[in-house]
Parts: sequence; structure tokens; C-alpha cells
Amino acid sequence: MKAWQAHLDDLAQRNMLRSLRDIDGIQGPWVELNGRHVLLLCSNNYLGLAGHPRLIEAACQALTDYGVGSGASRLVSGSMRAHHALEDALAAFKGTEGALLFNSGYAANTGIPQGLFGPDDLIFSDALNHASIIDGCRLAQARTVVYPHNDSVALEQLMIAELPRRKGRWVIITDGVFSMDGDLARLPELVALKRRYDTLLMVDDAHGTGVLGATGRGSAEALGCLADVDLHMGTLGKALGCAGAYLAAERTVIDMLINHSRPFIFSTSLPPAVAAAACAALAIIDSDEGRRRRNQLSANRDYFAARLHAGGADLLGSETQIVPILTGEPAPTMAAAGALLDQDIFLSGIRPPTVPAGQCRLRATLMADHQRVDLERAADAILKLLAPVKR
Ligand SMILES: Cc1ncc(COP(=O)(O)O)c(C=O)c1O
Repeated sequence: MKAWQAHLDDLAQRNMLRSLRDIDGIQGPWVELNGRHVLLLCSNNYLGLAGHPRLIEAACQALTDYGVGSGASRLVSGSMRAHHALEDALAAFKGTEGALLFNSGYAANTGIPQGLFGPDDLIFSDALNHASIIDGCRLAQARTVVYPHNDSVALEQLMIAELPRRKGRWVIITDGVFSMDGDLARLPELVALKRRYDTLLMVDDAHGTGVLGATGRGSAEALGCLADVDLHMGTLGKALGCAGAYLAAERTVIDMLINHSRPFIFSTSLPPAVAAAACAALAIIDSDEGRRRRNQLSANRDYFAARLHAGGADLLGSETQIVPILTGEPAPTMAAAGALLDQDIFLSGIRPPTVPAGQCRLRATLMADHQRVDLERAADAILKLLAPVKR
């Protein structure tokens, strides 16, 4: 215990200690944080669906029909109709033969590489992929080659170097929207490589699904290559306002995962009410209301990013509703997050190991429901704090 306390004390001294904060209320543009009304600029509830009446209604109906818990893994106590309905809807949404639910994006990203790739296979993984993909690559028996972020020229060189000893399947794994930088994967370039080197392409579209593309199909739709992605991973806890995740892919892939993916096999399945709510979210995303919410989000994002950019903030190449603001070291980052909270603006300071040393940042995430006046005030407060950070 003493050694652990010493470790925690050391983290605190270096401004690296993480702790939990209690909030009340629905994840809307404003929440109660320790009894204070604060502007929420760090939620992934991008479209404002987490508290949408139609999702709540669907969840309540499913609670009545199925109860709260699912009872066991789907292979053990049976697969509920609510799970199947959502999988069918997700497969139709992504245009694939099938889909499989996981309990979280973390579980999906650890379970997909582990369930599909063996010792003869090779994974090419972007250097800025989400931590869950990194852990998934560690769990898989396949070897992993990490390529420099969004650098398809370097990736091709690495592929060429691997060609002479190629034995099994190759797969490129990338975030669609990079979670800490808010930039997009260069999917068309990856598709060209995939074709040239007979490689599978897996896209983790946790932050693109529901948000990007004319119909919300995600980053691959926005970049014109939806049909070229072999393994569409996405989460239900962000724009869809629920919890859980999925892989949409060919039926054989789904059957492989049902048989081999440990996080799927050895874990109690999603509560059916969550699956029912996610189905309702997909229906909204596919409707005029979904389009309107996407447009609002995009307009909010453009306004906020333009104001920060005009004030000289370094937004690290963000192209989406994830807007990082570079602050550098942990101490000024956490001081800035604290000073913003004093002004009732809640956004997180991001430190290593989530981001590389020296690249700490404030990370703002926009919602469709944010009001201009609030975004203006937040952007100006951030810019005011950045001036001393830069000196
Ligand atoms: C790109 C990416 N993939 C996966 C995940 C994990 O998803 P979940 O929060 O559902 O575990 C996240 C999460 O926050 C993410 O940003």
C-alpha cells in the first residue's frame, strides 16, 4: 500500500494524477459538476442523442420486455431479439452482410484482432491509433508493425520490406477519426495500398459513425470509400448516445468472432435496453432530424475552430468535432483546465500516456446542441489562457 501511495503522490507532484469528478444530469451542453452548472465541452454525445426522448422511450420499453440484465454471454443464455435487431440495423447501415455487438469499443478492439489474426498474420497499425487498438494488437497472436501517423508512403515502405517473408493475412488498422488529434485517416491512400498489397482494412470509426458523411455512415463515407473497408468497427457510446460497440463485416468474419473472440465469448452481453436505444439512435441518424443535427454539429465545430485558429491556437490539424488545443506540458495544461472550470467551462486536459510527452492539450469536443454564445465565450476564455502558456 505504501509503495502505491508513494507512486500516486509522485503522480500528483508531476501534475499527472487522474481522479474522478461527479456530475449530475443528462450529457447535454450543460451539466451539474459538484453542484455547479458548467458548460460541457468534453462529452462524445456529439448529436445530443444520449438524452433523446425516443432513445429513452425505446430503452424503457425494452426494460419492460426483457428486464435489466442480459443474464450471460449470448453463447450461454441465448441471444436476445434486441441484440439481433440492432445487429441487423448496423449491418444495413454500413452495407455489410452482418454485424456483431461488443460491450464496449475497448472490448471490440481487443477482441477483433485477437479473434481474427494468428501467428502467420501481420497487422499494420497507425502510430496514433486508440489505446484499445494498441492493446488489441498486443493480445493478437499476429505481429504488429506500427507506421508513422497518416504516412502512407512510409507504410508502403514497411510493407515492401515485409513482402519477402509474407506468410499469412495482412491487415491495416486505423482510427477513422483520430481521437486525440481530431484528424481523419487518409483512407483513399490506405485503400490504394490495400489493393496493391492484397491487405484487409479495418477502420475504428468510434468518432465518425453518425457524424461524418452525407448520411452519417462515418469517415469512410465522407472520404468516398465505404465499400472498400473490410472491417467496420464503431462504437455506440458516442454519437449514438448509448454504450457498446460493433463490428460490421462479411458473415464469415462475424462467425469467426463468435467462435474465437474472447471479449465476445467470455462476457455478459449488452443490456437489451441499451441495444434497443441504439436501434432508435440509428433510426434518428438516418432521418431528417439526424441530418439537421449533423449540420448543427458541423457548423458549431467550424465556428469554434475558426475562432480559436484566428486567435493563434494550435489545433494540431483537427478536421472534425474533436478540437485539441496544444498546451505542451502537464502543469500549464492542468492549470488551464482548472482556470476554465473556475469560469464554468468543463473540458479535459490530456496528458501522457494518452498523448506523447510535450504534446499535452486541452481537448474540446463539440455537440450539435451547443449554443454559439457559449462557444464564443469558451473559445475566448481558452485564448486568454493560452497567451501565458505560449510565452
Ligand atoms: C477511437 C476509439 N476507439 C475505441 C474507443 C473505446 O470505445 P468505448 O468507450 O466504447 O470503450 C474509443 C474511446 O473512447 C475511441 O476514441
